[in-house]
Amino acid sequence: MAGKGICSFTAAAMHIPTLIARKREGEQLSSSEIQNLISGYTLGEVPDYQMAAFAMAVYFQGMTPAEVAALTRAMMASGDCFSHRPGHPAVVDKHSTGGIGDKVSLILAPLVACTGCWVPMVSGRGLGITGGTLDKLESIPGFNVNVSLADAAAQMDKLGVVMMGQTERFCPADKKLYALRDVTGTVPSIALITASIMSKKLAESLDRLVLDVKFGSGAFMQTKADAEALAASMIAVGQEMGVEVHAVLNPMSEPQGRAVGNSLEVIEALACLESGGPADLRKIVIDLAEKIAGVSREELERLLDDGSARSRFDQLVAAQGGNPADLPNLAKIHQAPYIREVCAGHAGTVSQVHAGFIGQAALELGAGRAKASDGVDFAVGFDQLVKVGETLEAGQTMCRIHARTLEELEMAQASVIRAVLFS
Ligand code: URA
Repeated sequence: MAGKGICSFTAAAMHIPTLIARKREGEQLSSSEIQNLISGYTLGEVPDYQMAAFAMAVYFQGMTPAEVAALTRAMMASGDCFSHRPGHPAVVDKHSTGGIGDKVSLILAPLVACTGCWVPMVSGRGLGITGGTLDKLESIPGFNVNVSLADAAAQMDKLGVVMMGQTERFCPADKKLYALRDVTGTVPSIALITASIMSKKLAESLDRLVLDVKFGSGAFMQTKADAEALAASMIAVGQEMGVEVHAVLNPMSEPQGRAVGNSLEVIEALACLESGGPADLRKIVIDLAEKIAGVSREELERLLDDGSARSRFDQLVAAQGGNPADLPNLAKIHQAPYIREVCAGHAGTVSQVHAGFIGQAALELGAGRAKASDGVDFAVGFDQLVKVGETLEAGQTMCRIHARTLEELEMAQASVIRAVLFS
C-alpha cells in the first residue's frame, strides 16, 4: 500500500483572509487555491479559526462542481490512499449517509467479497442519533477496527474484505475538518458533506461505489429533494474522478430492520447472513450489492442462503481479532440489566414507527454518543420492533427495550409509545 503524501506547500504564499472573503462573496476558487488551503490546514499552517470561517462561507455560498471536486481531491490526497496490487479484482464499496438500525454494511461487505470483488470498507462511528459500523463491529469481543493500510492489503489478498476505521494517515484533512464543522454549525453543507464522504471513499481507490442516500426523520437529509441534491453532487465528483458511482435513495422514516443498538444489530445482521432476518433489511442489502457486485440478484440471494456470506463474515471476524464462536452468544455476552416487552394497548395496523424518536431513545439508552469522545453501551437498544403495515392484536409485542436502568427503560417506553402509531 503506497501512500500519497501531502504536498508540501505554502499557505504563506496565499493570503488566506482574502481567499475566505472571496468565497464569502460567492467567487469560484481555483483548484490550486483549494489544494493549497487544504494542504496548509493539514500541516497546521492554516489555523482552525480561518478554516471555520471558510467552512461557513462555503455553507452560505456553496461550491461549484469543479470546486467540490478540487476539495475532494485535496482532502483525499492529504494522507495515504489504498494502492491495490497489479491485477487486482474489481474494488468496490458502499457508503450510507446513515440511519437508524442501519446494519447493511455488516452483511453487504462479506456478501460482495464472496462474488470475487474486493471490499476495503473504511467506516465511521455513530454520532447523534445515527449508529456507526465501527461501534457495531466492536460489540464482537476482540474485533479490531484499527488496521494499517499494509495489514488491510494483506487481508484483502486473503479474504477480499476488510472493515476498518479511518487511521491518522487516512484523509487527515477530513478528520480535522469534520471535527471543526461539528462544533461550528457547518456540517449540513452539501459541498462539505460531499467532499468529506467522497474523499474517504475515493482514497480506497475504488472501481465502483454505491451510495445509500437516506432521507426522512431518522436521516441527515430530512427531505427527498435534499437527498437528491446530495446524491447528484456525490455522483458528479465520482464521475470526475473516474469512479463508477451509483446512488440509491432510501427513506429512513422507520428504522431499518427490527433492531436498533450495537450488539442487537449485529445479531440481526447474523440472522440475515443466515438467510433470515427482516425482509426490508435483506432487500436493501441486495438492492445495493447488485449495483456494485457484477452478479445477478439470484446469485446474491444464493450466497446469503447457502452460508457463503456467513462463513466469510466468520473469517473476517477471525482475521480482525475476534472469535467466531462468540457470535451465537452475543445476546448473553451483552445482556442489558433490564429487558422489557412493550405491548400494544389495542388492536390495529401500524402506520408509523418514527425513526427519529427511536434513534433519539436509543441514543439516550446509551447506544450512541452525543459527542465524539463519548463511549457507547453495546447491550442497550431495541429489538423485535414492529414494522409499518403490520397488524397487531391488543397485548402483542411492539418491541423489546434493553436498558441499563429502570429510569432509562421508562423513558424509552414513553418514546416507543410516541413513535408507534396505529391507523
Ligand atoms: N459523514 C461524513 O463522513 N462526513 C460528513 O460530512 C457527513 C457524514
